[in-house]
Amino acid sequence: MLISEHNSRKEKDTDMAINFDEQKKIFKLDTLNSSYAFQIYDEGYIVHLYYGGKIPDNNLTQFLNRGMYNSSHPENEKLLNSSGFGAFSQDIQPMEYSTWGAGDYRLPCLEITNINGDSTTDVRYVGYKIYDGKPDIGMPATFAAEDEAQTLEIYAEDKVTSAYVTLIYTVFEKLSAMTRAVKLENKSEDVLRINRILSCCVDFSGMDYDLVHLYGQWGKERTETRVPVSHGIQTISSTRGVSGHFHNPFMAVVGKDCTEEHGEAYGFNLVYSGNFEMSVEADARNTARFVGGIGHDGFEWKLEPGDSFMAPEMVMVYSDEGMGEMSRTFHKLYMQHLIRSKWKDVRRPILINSWEAALFDFDDDKLVAFAEEAKKLGMDMLVMDDGWFGKRNDDHSSLGDWFVNEKKLKGGLSSLIKRVNDIGLKFGIWYEPEMISPDSELYRAHPDWCIQVKGREKSIARYQYVLDITREEVRDNIFNQMYDVLSKNNIDYVKWDFNRYITEPGSLALPADRQKEVFHRFTLGTYDMMKRFTEAFPDILFENCSSGGGRFDPAMLYYSPQIWTSDCTDAIERLTIQFGTSLCYPASSFGAHVANRPRTPISTRGDVALWGTFGYELDPRKLSDADKETVKVQVKEYDKYYDLIHFGELYRVIKPTDDAFQCAWEFVSEDKSEALLTAVTMRQRETSNCVIKLKGLDPEKIYIDEETGERYSGALLMKAGFVITPVFKGWGIPMYGTDGSSIKKHFVAEK
Ligand code: DGJ
Repeated sequence: MLISEHNSRKEKDTDMAINFDEQKKIFKLDTLNSSYAFQIYDEGYIVHLYYGGKIPDNNLTQFLNRGMYNSSHPENEKLLNSSGFGAFSQDIQPMEYSTWGAGDYRLPCLEITNINGDSTTDVRYVGYKIYDGKPDIGMPATFAAEDEAQTLEIYAEDKVTSAYVTLIYTVFEKLSAMTRAVKLENKSEDVLRINRILSCCVDFSGMDYDLVHLYGQWGKERTETRVPVSHGIQTISSTRGVSGHFHNPFMAVVGKDCTEEHGEAYGFNLVYSGNFEMSVEADARNTARFVGGIGHDGFEWKLEPGDSFMAPEMVMVYSDEGMGEMSRTFHKLYMQHLIRSKWKDVRRPILINSWEAALFDFDDDKLVAFAEEAKKLGMDMLVMDDGWFGKRNDDHSSLGDWFVNEKKLKGGLSSLIKRVNDIGLKFGIWYEPEMISPDSELYRAHPDWCIQVKGREKSIARYQYVLDITREEVRDNIFNQMYDVLSKNNIDYVKWDFNRYITEPGSLALPADRQKEVFHRFTLGTYDMMKRFTEAFPDILFENCSSGGGRFDPAMLYYSPQIWTSDCTDAIERLTIQFGTSLCYPASSFGAHVANRPRTPISTRGDVALWGTFGYELDPRKLSDADKETVKVQVKEYDKYYDLIHFGELYRVIKPTDDAFQCAWEFVSEDKSEALLTAVTMRQRETSNCVIKLKGLDPEKIYIDEETGERYSGALLMKAGFVITPVFKGWGIPMYGTDGSSIKKHFVAEK
């Protein structure tokens, strides 16, 4: 059955973001600055043709024939030409969605074991549908109104197994962004086993690229690294049950000459919080293939007849103006089409968090004392971090017992919140919903409620196990406990933490042939809980966290508009983390606080935290009088620059590389009427080059340096630059030009 449906608001004209040329059988998808094309070839093969800068026409059929054949390339017998070979081989062609076992030996996206026990998978085109808007895929994903995006669904089928695939492409017409997702349906009478189902495959016509990705660890998340594409396979992944600290589900394939402002960059970011993989394979013909999606290591899914499986969404951004423009497109896309919380557009409260100041050592009086001082300094909200529940006085107990420890909070939670509210501060609370301590009432009642496999000891990490939230009754229990607290108290903010990885991945509630589904079911369980909480409490500001930034991914952003970026609160170390995070995530999502890390002046700590949601993580009573005055200035600056930083465009002016003595970043308002440049000196130099060339300004506009009143053209500031002169204030006093100090320059365009 061939399906062909065209339900767009627009007629089939060249204005369409998605076009199908019926004669050539070419689908062409155009975004603001990019084009993407593939062709339906004989026998239903879906062959990729092009992804790159925008092109007006679709005369791309020549790309079908990209390689020299030799007799070893497997071919479709029906397509043999008169000379006996050379018509079509999956081994050579760029394929739109690669499968395992039928002649394409490069990285596969789809591998299904059928009832006969073999895994050969070969899907061929059946039809398409084009419509306005974007479908709900039942998982976190970008969203769009009917006039903001168009969607193409390509239907393909493996005739032998009746595995039916829908490739879903959505094109954002006003951004250089598109998304891909994949649905698999079992239309056979037999069980199918999915061994691998990735979301996206892009075959590049060469391999002259570098890979940019974000590696890290606890306290050093999302550090940018760049390596050349080389022959063989290069992979980043997580097998830890969450996206994790070690790699982020982000990769960019960039031209060799790509810089912040010039060259081509293809950014890929998976909207998924569980195990993932992203790989690039370069073959002997010097072509490169990118694939990405759910990690296939330890994954298998049993698909009953009539059932379907949805693979998560991959966001794809193209830029021919370097990585800076790629990042700004990601930021816009996520601000406009991913983050659902109403807090995305609302001024976030400046919070003071108890963790680094008190750890587990607090009671109601201490928190009230924090709040009193915080109020005097101009802050908005007190967040009570870990340690308020069960009998938790250290990290050895009580996860899962979400009732108030009244020995600590004498008079109970409502009384504490009232005292804090009476001071004039909002109140926030900490949870770690997916975890359970062996020393907890919950564990004693339900020892089977944690992730485990039969007959093996459970590994322990931070004295805790992971709850088996693949089970509905477990999710219900945690939801009900937390609902009780959140609904009965005036709570404005929840920090949702997750402090260990999954080991012994198994569930006592699943049969043997579904044990390898646990990782994905766990991720779906997390989504279910977050959906329930964010729907039940739409006014609460949720901040995600995972031992710092161990689950900083687009799916978490879908539920919580901000994520704790890292447990590293040292301002200088944070620079690398924040620069890396900004490759695809917007500033408004960075949880960033001023902490008690005296290696850098408090002014620098404030300037670095301003590039984020802003707050404090220290005992405000212990600040010196001078530092208190600085804090008062900072909270005013937070409001002054809020719109510019949260809704403006980011330029990474000087990156904090290992040998850089300073780094700098800049926010420019969308209408280019103002800019804020921040520079931090990371290490001591005898003589420093202090000329910084600004970016993103209007060359025609005149900008006034707010501090001095000096007038400069945008052209001058961008081409000649701006000199930041070190000021010697005395021995031992931080100044610009010595280790750890910072400077902000605010330029406002003349009206
Ligand atoms: C890890 C988080 O990253 C910290 O901010 C803090 O909330 C601790 N967990 C509490 O256990």
